[in-house]
Amino acid sequence: MYRVVRCLVVSRVPYSLGTNRYSTGSSTFATDKPYARVSDYYAGRSVFITGGTGFLGKVIIERLLYNCTEIENIFVLIRPKKGVSTQKRLEEMTNVPLFTKLKQRRPDDLKKIIPVEGDMTAPQLGIKSYDQETLINKVSVVFHSAATVRFADTFKETMDANVGGTRKVLNLSKKIKNIDKFVYISTAYSNSDKLIIDEVLYQPSEKMKEIDKYYEKILMQKYFTDDVPNIYAVSKALCEHIVSTERGSMPLIMVRPSIVTPILKEPLPGWADTWIAATAIYSDMARGVMTIMYGNDKNVCDLVPVDYLCNFIIVAAAQKIPRSDDIPVFNFSSSSVNPITWQRAGDLFLKESKNLGYNSRVPNKVLQTESKLVARTTVFLCQYLPSILKDIGLIITGKKPRYLKDSRRSTLLRELMKPFSTTSWLIKSDNTQALIASLDENDKSIFFCNVADIDWEKYMQTFCLGVKKYLVDGKVK
Ligand SMILES: NC(=O)c1ccc[n+]([C@@H]2O[C@H](COP(=O)([O-])OP(=O)(O)OC[C@H]3O[C@@H](n4cnc5c(N)ncnc54)[C@H](OP(=O)(O)O)[C@@H]3O)[C@@H](O)[C@H]2O)c1
Repeated sequence: MYRVVRCLVVSRVPYSLGTNRYSTGSSTFATDKPYARVSDYYAGRSVFITGGTGFLGKVIIERLLYNCTEIENIFVLIRPKKGVSTQKRLEEMTNVPLFTKLKQRRPDDLKKIIPVEGDMTAPQLGIKSYDQETLINKVSVVFHSAATVRFADTFKETMDANVGGTRKVLNLSKKIKNIDKFVYISTAYSNSDKLIIDEVLYQPSEKMKEIDKYYEKILMQKYFTDDVPNIYAVSKALCEHIVSTERGSMPLIMVRPSIVTPILKEPLPGWADTWIAATAIYSDMARGVMTIMYGNDKNVCDLVPVDYLCNFIIVAAAQKIPRSDDIPVFNFSSSSVNPITWQRAGDLFLKESKNLGYNSRVPNKVLQTESKLVARTTVFLCQYLPSILKDIGLIITGKKPRYLKDSRRSTLLRELMKPFSTTSWLIKSDNTQALIASLDENDKSIFFCNVADIDWEKYMQTFCLGVKKYLVDGKVK
């Protein structure tokens, strides 16, 4: 019933589904496993992961080490950053609470992580030739997760890292002798021009292909990106096209997550190390920094906890691809199986934030509007004016003003998130659900990943507690 209603509501779908797929894969992915358990697939294998220092990457690594005990090595592409060496960055990466449980159980398993110095924007990924040889000879699964996900990055920065970087990772992976799977972590919003997003590959428009060809010379980025939420989405759509058309005979799996949020269950409920998207909006609201957001009380907020997603990525990579020309696409989303609105998720977050003593003066309900005028007036009266007064107080007492700066930051966030908070996408996940259903009970429990099972009321408590503990109080930048 829900799906029927959603299909009627989202009637401005610009494409008819299925006609523009160019995958030869069937829409429901059939599994045919030559091993008993998911962890058996990884036994004796080495994997290469890009983006391993990121939010998703760290959880994939931790889950692989924790649950696939016989995995051989995990090679992680790490760039030296701000004068910090690759080795030091690896230490910092594992020195977060996410890895505590693993360290208590099997500390030596952390030695399986091997850093590979490199950068997505450098020629040949900046990987030294002997490191390239090691990867080519040892690895059999590649998880390509690295991307710049900052919506405010420039056109060139985003295209260089995401599109240029993806081509380079693909080219390196094609040289790997025993490559069994290339897993591309895309985003459900790479196809956000459609309101119903199916688990198929969509043809990029001619305009998108032009961007790929000429982006280094393009100055008028607005012309090329005015019908998509942001440059990031354009770059990810192009990456989907690139990996699917330039992969040669390499077996490819594509996972498209929606909005990724803190851990629900394992290894550490509530853990997150990023302020991105819904996490930033809700925490700003709970702290009283954001007073209103764009949208209405019907818009669906497609949240997925990071542990569910990363378990699914591990499971999906372990599946046998029935035919070499198939490209299984898995949307990892909640909107089609267990939807929640921005309003309800926000209200639950605010309720819990009050229990945790965030800010007693914020309202109990998230305030939403579709009107720019209402948003601007509310922001001026309820955010900017009080911030200016508080800053004057700070200046008088000899302290550095900070409230107006914080308010302005939250205004930018509201604008960047506007396309997402004002649109309800139905992100279909039949392939994902079919794959989860095919797991035996043991794998279903170890690699829990069915978002249909999530109790949002309980999860939003964990979410809020995690944001306070690991981001607000923990001061993760
Ligand atoms: N988070 C979400 O809500 C979400 C939703 C849908 C899809 N995704 C996709 O999931 C993937 C991971 O996202 P995330 O949330 O984990 O992002 P993240 O926390 O920002 O991590 C991004 C990762 O990419 C690496 N990276 C960026 N530019 C690089 C470069 N030039 N060279 C080498 N490494 C580079 C970063 O390395 P440094 O540590 O060196 O910066 C980091 O490891 C991305 O592909 C994203 O598109 C994320």
